[in-house]
Parts: sequence; structure tokens; C-alpha cells
Amino acid sequence: MTESSYIAAHSFAFSVPPRRVSNDDLSTLMDTSDEWIRQRTGIAQRYWVDPPTTTSDLGVASARQSCTGQPDALIAATLSPDYCFPGIGVLIQHKLGLPPIPAFDVRNQCCGFLYALQMAQAFIAASMYQRILVVGAEVHSTGLDVSTRGRDIAVLFGDGAGSCIVERGNSSQAEHFEVIGFELHGDGKYASELWCEHPGSAHFPVRITRELVESGKIFPAMNGKKVFEHAVRGMTEVSRSLLTSHGLSPSDVRLVVPHQANLRINQLVGSELGLPADRVFNTIQEFGNTTAATIPIGLTKALQARLLQQGDLVLLCAFGSGFTWGAGLLRYHSALPER
Ligand code: ACO
Repeated sequence: MTESSYIAAHSFAFSVPPRRVSNDDLSTLMDTSDEWIRQRTGIAQRYWVDPPTTTSDLGVASARQSCTGQPDALIAATLSPDYCFPGIGVLIQHKLGLPPIPAFDVRNQCCGFLYALQMAQAFIAASMYQRILVVGAEVHSTGLDVSTRGRDIAVLFGDGAGSCIVERGNSSQAEHFEVIGFELHGDGKYASELWCEHPGSAHFPVRITRELVESGKIFPAMNGKKVFEHAVRGMTEVSRSLLTSHGLSPSDVRLVVPHQANLRINQLVGSELGLPADRVFNTIQEFGNTTAATIPIGLTKALQARLLQQGDLVLLCAFGSGFTWGAGLLRYHSALPER
């Protein structure tokens, strides 16, 4: 087995629950319409869990497809953990029947998978671990206000998970991505523009009360227009900056696989980068916003659709709660190249 000098991400997979929820289904729960949701967001449907499926269950269903061999560390990203604590990392480790390997939890919302991938890249580069399972998983549906009061947010989100393995490139790998680099940002001054405030340790004297439940403050809240504007600007700027730092420009990119918050956000990012529509790969129509899972779902779908050829450059970018934003660069290899 020849070991390569670069770090590879491979065995991408995803899992969504079986229950498909159409926009018309939502209009039986709240005052909304298929037309409004499609026009404003691009979303046609999403998948929502039925009990007792949890975020870690979806993560496990995806990870089982990615794990062809045993990982020696695991990084799991989510904003919707099964419990306040512990995180889903250890739950996924246990359910997969893995030995007591380190199980990291990443809480960077829509950028969670990018943050997790960069951590995995750094751990492998430092030879701290050899083979890292990276999972992004969400169950949003049980945390949404599905009445008309919550319609601006409830229609956006889907449940799902995606995963991959990160390790050094080696001659046994077939199709994989070379992990080139990342640029990540976070700025907590915008925390309250997109958040779920309660229950949390900042609330006194107890974290949850009947009043909080009745007021709807236990549900996510967002300044939609502000998030929209910052998302377009943040994803565009960080993408340009990352490309420039690698001596590249948007025209070098074969495919952008962005986070999926709103189809219009991604169309605007594509046009700001000067890319034709077919260079921006979207899955929001089918899955909605699955937050930490959107990027691995997008990469898996792009691979399944055979959109990439040897050497193609893939740009990842995301924006979300925090605010956090970031971009990543991958190069597609249909098999390990000679070095
Ligand atoms: N169905 C019907 N009408 C609705 C719905 C709905 N589901 N939601 C809101 N409306 C109404 C509003 O009440 C408003 O009515 P009014 O004019 O009578 O007051 C009208 O539609 C227009 O609402 P706007 O908020 O102006 O609609 P906008 O075009 O801004 O679209 C949206 C709203 C889709 C939420 C958009 O702002 C957006 O996508 N923002 C970014 C979302 C995002 O990126 N979130 C981050 C991901 S989440 C994360 O990171 C965890």
C-alpha cells in the first residue's frame, strides 16, 4: 500500500428517514402554501423522523455505509443532539459497536461539517489519529413550531445525516476527495439573529418554565432577511478568499457544493462568483435544510450523479447560526493518482 502525502475524504454516504413531508402536508398544519415555500426557498419536500428515531440513529445509519473499516476517532456535528448531554459522538460510537475511541462533538450549526472536516484534516496531518469518521446529523422536526406562528422557520428544515471517512490517501482507495484546505470564521455578535434561546443555562432560576414553552421561546428564532444578506455575502467572500489563498479563482471550480439554507441564497452566491447555474449543486428541493448534514448529502448526491471527473476542483461553503461561515476546497480523484 503506497501512502500519499495528502489527506483524503472518502466513503461519503447519507441517510434520511422514510417519511416524506411535502409542502402541501405542511399547509395542513399551518397557514402556508406550496407556492410560497417553493418561490421563497426552492424547497419542494423534506424528510422528517417518526418516533423513536433520533439524531444519533440517523448518524449511525449514514456512518454504517461509510465505515468499511474501523475508525480510531469520530467527530460528530449537530445542532440537534438527542440529549442536552452527552453529545451524539459517544452515542454514535456505542451504537456502531466501536471500541472506546475519542468521540468529539462539534456545535457549529450549518458550518458544523466544515468545522469537523477541518479538525479531521488537522488530526490526520498531525498523525494523532489514522482514520476518522466524520458525521453530520440533525433531527429538526421535533424542535420546530409547526403552527402558523413558526411558519417562517418550520418550512425550511429537514431531518437527515451524512458522513465520510478522513485518512491519508492510500493505494486501496478508489474514488475520493483530496482535502486541500479550509477558511472558517465565527462572530458571536450575531448570536441572537439566529438561535434557539431556551432551554439553556443562561436562563434563571430554572432552564425551562411553562411560560417559556407557551411563549414559543423554546423554538428556533431568526431574523430571516439579515441571515439571508449575511449568508450571500459571507459565503461569497469566504469562497473568494480561500480560492485566492490557493492561487485559484472561481473559474477553476468545477462544482460548488454549498450549504442548503435557501435556493435563492445559493443562486446569488453562484452569480456573485460568476459561475453558471449548473456549477452550483443543490439538494434543498428534496431535503430542505438539514444543517450539519447538507454538505455530505450534497457531496454524496454529486458523486452518485457522476458530475465529477479526475482532478476536478470542488468548493464547499456554508453560513449559519453564530454567525459562523466558511469554505473548503477538495479535489476529486477517481482513483489515487501517482505521486
Ligand atoms: N408561508 C407563508 N407565508 C409566510 C411563511 C410561510 N411559511 N413564512 C413567512 N411568511 C410570510 C411573512 O409572515 C410575511 O408576511 P407579511 O408580509 O404579511 O408580513 C411574508 O411571508 C414575507 O416574509 P419575509 O420574511 O419577507 O419573506 P422572505 O422573502 O424574507 O423569505 C425566508 C423568508 C425564506 C425565511 C428568508 O428570509 C430566508 O431564507 N432567510 C435565510 C434563512 C437561513 O439561511 N437560515 C439559516 C439556516 S438555519 C441555521 O443556520 C441553523
